[in-house]
Amino acid sequence: MKTIIAPSLLSADFTNLDSEITKMENAGADWLHFDVMDGHFVPNISFGVPVLKSIKGKFNLINDVHIMISDPYFYASKFIKAGAQILTFHYEACKNDNDVFRTIDLIHSYGAKAGLSIKPGTPIFKIFPFLYSLDLVLIMSVEPGFGGQAFIEDSIDKIAILSKKIKQNNIKCLIEVDGGINGETGKKCVEAGANILVAGSYLFGHDDVEERINKLKL
Ligand code: DX5
Ligand code: ZN
Repeated sequence: MKTIIAPSLLSADFTNLDSEITKMENAGADWLHFDVMDGHFVPNISFGVPVLKSIKGKFNLINDVHIMISDPYFYASKFIKAGAQILTFHYEACKNDNDVFRTIDLIHSYGAKAGLSIKPGTPIFKIFPFLYSLDLVLIMSVEPGFGGQAFIEDSIDKIAILSKKIKQNNIKCLIEVDGGINGETGKKCVEAGANILVAGSYLFGHDDVEERINKLKL
C-alpha cells in the first residue's frame, strides 16, 4: 500500500488558504489534516467548524480531522456535518473505555470513519480493545498542541508494536503518525508500519513541496 500523505493545515498561511491547499493537492497530497484545538485539552487554540465548512467539497483531498478537544462525543457530529470524512479523537479526552466505544459508534452512525489518537505518554496497549472498531489509530510523535516540534524517537517502537498486533490478528485498522515528520523520520515510521504520515512544517512554506511529498511517499 502506498503511503498516504496528509499535510497539516495548522502550518498553512491562513491569509491564502485556497492557494495553500491547492498547492498541496497539485503536489500529490492525499488527505488534508485539520488540527482542531480547544485551548483546554491542549494548551493552544487553532480553528473549528467554520474553517472546515468553508473548505468542504472544494478540493479532492480527504478531510482528515484531528480533534484535540475535551468532550469529543458532544462535538463529533458537528465536525462530520461540517465535512469531516475521518474524525480522530483522543483516548485521553474520554472518561473510560465505554466513552471511547460510544464515540466510535457515533462517528460511524454519521457516516464518517473513526480514528483514535494517543499522546506520546500513553502506552500503546491502552487502545488495543478498540482496534476491531477503529478505521485508524493516530500515534502522536509530539506532544499535541503545536506544529514545528521535534519528533519523539520512542514513537517508532509504538508503531512497530501496533503494526505487529494488527498484522498478527488481520485487523483492518490503519496507522497514522503525526508530529515532527520529515524525510528521515517519515521513512523510519513507514519502515515500522505506518500507513499515513501527517506533516505540517515540513510541507507548508517550502517551494519544493512536491519533492518533499514524493520523498515521504518512497
Ligand atoms: C500537533 C498536531 C500536528 C502538527 C504537525 O498537535 O496534531 O498535526 O500540526 O506539525 P509538524 O509536522 O510541523 O510537527
Ligand atoms: Zn494533528
